[in-house]
Amino acid sequence: MDKPNAAPILQGRNISKRFGGVQALDKVSFDLYPGEVLALAGDNGAGKSTLIKTVAGVYGADEGEVIYRGETVKFDNPSAARGAGIETIYQDLALADNLDVGANVFLGREPTRRLFGFLPSIDRRKMREESRGVLDLLDIEISPSALSKPVHSLSGGQRQAVAIGRAIFWNATVLIMDEPTAALGVPEQRKVMDLIRRLKERSVGILFISHNLSDIFEVSDRILVLRRGKAAGERKISETDSDEVVKLMVGG
Ligand SMILES: Nc1ncnc2c1ncn2[C@@H]1O[C@H](COP(=O)(O)OP(=O)(O)O)[C@@H](O)[C@H]1O
Ligand SMILES: [Mg+2]
Repeated sequence: MDKPNAAPILQGRNISKRFGGVQALDKVSFDLYPGEVLALAGDNGAGKSTLIKTVAGVYGADEGEVIYRGETVKFDNPSAARGAGIETIYQDLALADNLDVGANVFLGREPTRRLFGFLPSIDRRKMREESRGVLDLLDIEISPSALSKPVHSLSGGQRQAVAIGRAIFWNATVLIMDEPTAALGVPEQRKVMDLIRRLKERSVGILFISHNLSDIFEVSDRILVLRRGKAAGERKISETDSDEVVKLMVGG
C-alpha cells in the first residue's frame, strides 16, 4: 500500500452471519484501503465466501455493518453493490457464454443509439470499441477476431480478464476476487496476478481470497485469517510468513 494516509474505502464492522445451526461469521471486522490487496485466508468453511457475499449484497448480515466510502451501506442485491462500485469476480465468473466480449462488458448496461433518428437500438460497435479500449488499458491480449466470438471460445485466463475489464470499465473502486485463479493453468494464473498488480496501481482496493499462499504472499499487502467464522489474526504480509499463517488457519 502506497497511501498510508488514505481513508479506508471499505470496512466491515463486527459482521455476523448464521445459517441454521452454523455460525458462519462471528463479529468479523476488516479495513480495506484504496490501492491495497487484502487477502482472506482460512480453511474450507472458515467463512471467507460468506464474508465477501455479505459485503457484495448477496446476503444480509445478521449483525454488524458494512461501511463504504465512510458511510454505512446495505446492498439489497449484487447489482446494487456493483452499481455503487463494488465488483465481485467469483471462480465461476458469471459471464454470458454465448455473447461476445463487448456484450459481456456491457451486460445489463448496454449503450443504445437511435437508428434513423428515432428507433433505439443497441450500439454494438461502441461496445466493441469500448471493450477493446479497456482490454488495451490493462494490456490484455485478445485478438480482434476473438473479440467478436462468444466468450466460451476464450481461454480461462482471457475470460477472467474480460470479467476484470468489465469491473474496470464500470469504474469499480473495490474488486472482490474469490479464488480467481483456481480454475486456471499456471501461465494464466500468472496473468491474473499481473492484472491484480495493475489494478492496485489504479488505486482499486482488492479483497483477494485464495487457497494458494504463495499467490497471497506475492500480491497482498495484508492478510486476514478466518477460523470457524472468527478472525484468527491479521498481519502485514511483510511481517509474517506462511508458517505463521498456517498456524493461524488451523489454530492451537
Ligand atoms: N448458503 C448457505 N447455507 C447454509 N450454510 C452455508 C451457506 N453458505 C455457507 N454455509 C456454511 O457456512 C460456513 C462458511 O462457509 P463459506 O463462507 O463458504 O466458507 P469458505 O468460503 O471459507 O470455505 C460453512 O460451514 C458452510 O457450510
Ligand atoms: Mg469459499
